[in-house]
Amino acid sequence: MNNYAIEVNKLRKIFTTRAGFWSRKTKTTVAVEDVSFNVCKGELFGLLGPNGAGKTTTVKMLSTILLPTAGTASIFGLDVTEQTQAVRERIGFSFGGARGLYGRLSAVDNLRYFAELYGLEPSTTRERIPEMLELVGLADRGEDRVETYSSGMQQRLHLARALLHDPELIFLDEPTVGIDPVGARELRKAIKELVAQGKTILLTTHYMAEAEELCDRIAIINEGLIVALDTPSVLKKRISGDTLFEIEIMNKNFASLQAQLQKIDSCLTVQITDAHPKKIFSVRTSQPDKVMQLLSPFLSSQQILELEVRNQTLEDVYVSIIQGEKA
Ligand SMILES: Nc1ncnc2c1ncn2[C@@H]1O[C@H](COP(=O)(O)OP(=O)(O)OP(=O)(O)O)[C@@H](O)[C@H]1O
Ligand SMILES: [Mg+2]
Repeated sequence: MNNYAIEVNKLRKIFTTRAGFWSRKTKTTVAVEDVSFNVCKGELFGLLGPNGAGKTTTVKMLSTILLPTAGTASIFGLDVTEQTQAVRERIGFSFGGARGLYGRLSAVDNLRYFAELYGLEPSTTRERIPEMLELVGLADRGEDRVETYSSGMQQRLHLARALLHDPELIFLDEPTVGIDPVGARELRKAIKELVAQGKTILLTTHYMAEAEELCDRIAIINEGLIVALDTPSVLKKRISGDTLFEIEIMNKNFASLQAQLQKIDSCLTVQITDAHPKKIFSVRTSQPDKVMQLLSPFLSSQQILELEVRNQTLEDVYVSIIQGEKA
């Protein structure tokens, strides 16, 4: 037995779909091309990537909802295609959206129904349902019909459902999408709490700050392939130079600033955006002192309209990796 909760080896998924109802033409989509990674027990692992990158497809293969086209994956050493039932007993998943909940039933009745499906003892069910509703902040709405819930509330109920049978590994596909900032913060707190209890979590999100705050390690997936995998702090060091300057200047002063920046060309990368009548320089550098020195006469003569200096964020790294892939 090793220490992995998830082991993924050369996983691949191809979808074949018909173009229309009557059409005989088929279309194939390589949703996941070749993905390999491991997640340790107790780890919070993030899967990031653009729309259509293959995140949900990967999560669905790992949670036994979709069959892989090729490759292997195991959960706590159990093969996802061969030992499906044993895998299902140890995992919980939440894919969000309204599907999978019964609108005419209350949240409590929905959870009761799923508890029965999971084969939970009635005494356990009685204890777990209020606990889970409390965890996701729905304790006072438990008796209301789910069709009267906002989408964020339905999203939270999905999470409660995923946790009912106290699984060791939880797949959360965009858990905070559509949830208001306070609710999202509470949900992130609940996620941290689950990790503190020793659960393993695989999370997908489009919110970089969320990934940075929560994840022990992150894999960035693009067009069905993993293009980066590391801790947030190591990923952030991937881009050489770690300070960013955003400089707004009027068009008429643009040329002189550009000429100055060219003098130290070797220690920075510059991107220029036209925002008529202004231009915006985005400068990335490993030598911020030099850039600051060079900017100071422009600042004192008030030629610079706005200046923002900040350190690299995970979002910068993400954008640079994904755009680098496209280039
Ligand atoms: N059931 C399906 N039939 C056909 N193609 C599919 C199916 N599900 C997903 N795909 C395709 O597979 C690719 C990957 O989709 P997937 O849902 O895994 O992306 P994702 O990374 O989760 O994106 P998002 O961030 O938008 O949720 C897309 O091109 C999508 O159109
Ligand atoms: Mg998705």
